[in-house]
Amino acid sequence: MTNHTNPNNNNPSELAGLPKSVGLGEQKKRFSAQVAAGHAHIEGDMTLGKKCITALRSGGEFTRATQNFHAYPARLHPEAGRLLLEALPGKTLADPFCGGGTILVEALIAGRTVFGSDLNPIATLVTTARTALLSPEQLQRLQADLADICARADEKLAKGANVHLPPTILKYKDWYKTNCFNELACLYNEIDKRQSELKPLYQAVFSSLVVKYSLRASDTSNKVVYIPRKNGAVMRAFKEKSEEYVRQLAELQTLVPPNTPPATISLADARRPGFDKVDTIITSPPYPGTYDYLALQQLRQAWFGLDMKTESEIGSRHAFKHAKAAYASWLKDTDKWIAASASALLPGGHLAVVVGEGMQGGKRLRVANPTIQAANHAGLKLLTSASVDRFDPATRIKKVEYILVFEKE
Ligand SMILES: C[S@@+](CC[C@H](N)C(=O)[O-])C[C@H]1O[C@@H](n2cnc3c(N)ncnc32)[C@H](O)[C@@H]1O
Repeated sequence: MTNHTNPNNNNPSELAGLPKSVGLGEQKKRFSAQVAAGHAHIEGDMTLGKKCITALRSGGEFTRATQNFHAYPARLHPEAGRLLLEALPGKTLADPFCGGGTILVEALIAGRTVFGSDLNPIATLVTTARTALLSPEQLQRLQADLADICARADEKLAKGANVHLPPTILKYKDWYKTNCFNELACLYNEIDKRQSELKPLYQAVFSSLVVKYSLRASDTSNKVVYIPRKNGAVMRAFKEKSEEYVRQLAELQTLVPPNTPPATISLADARRPGFDKVDTIITSPPYPGTYDYLALQQLRQAWFGLDMKTESEIGSRHAFKHAKAAYASWLKDTDKWIAASASALLPGGHLAVVVGEGMQGGKRLRVANPTIQAANHAGLKLLTSASVDRFDPATRIKKVEYILVFEKE
């Protein structure tokens, strides 16, 4: 990817809609595979601890079913999810910080009844799309509808027809090359007017192109980059993405055991999750000060006219940059979401937390002890604490990433 001049001839700092105050900057990928895992440490149950270390060390390509559909920041490695599910058998599984739904997809494949929630509407959109269990008739209809959307949008584009867009979207026009914006606008318009239970899946395919065909460097950076895009590039990408997604969904249907109920996905704050009485919770809360999960979705927020509750986000990078008390708030929020999860667990049930240290003012922010204390307070007993050191060559800083497994007494 090379930096070129902005094709719309705008000064990047003047591009509308992504204010500096949001402070996205370059955000480091937190995904375990990106930073090599070093020294490992286990306290408590060794057998379970070793399985957690294997999970923490998961890395490499993973293309099973829908796991690679649509980008989502700081996703867990799907193999880590699979290994944790294997280590913690049960019937029902919840993830109150479901993000892109990595654990839920693996749990469906393991035949569990799954519940996922997140505060971020893009997370629930991606999770809904990744966990969709469709009948053969619905899958055929999805394929036909996506092809039809593409054909009609293409026709509209060829005619040069005027596409009406809300001002919330027009405000972000300068984040796109004109040809890409016009193609996205025609697709958006075609999807927006449809009424179908499959509409979130059309939207998810569209959403997968919203950043890639913008001038943003990536999903986790708001730097401006100019990649030459030929006319028709967005349309071709929509067609290819649609075909790939239908294939991935077909694979998911073959892997999920018959009679597995569809996933229940809701937009909810983990401090008041929308599920109850589950035997297992596997989750990864925001690492303190690492990402702005909601602000990162500004372009998608604009296209879909979403209401983003940024003030309710736990541990945002923005808060850690601007508020001294951010760590104290993260600790309080940890108490709250763990208490809520503990009360949703059945007796004898398990909670596994994947969490890593963050940084503030050059200092490492400890996460294990506060999480253990919050869990003990909520009536959960620590079974194992497994950790690996992660040395980030860019910052030359070592941080520790944990899997903490608890049992409800
Ligand atoms: C580490 S990510 C989860 C990634 C996920 N495990 C995956 O594989 O995609 C943390 C998630 O917490 C969500 N989040 C932040 N504050 C939240 C809150 N108060 N309630 C629920 N979810 C929240 C973010 O939107 C983000 O999706």
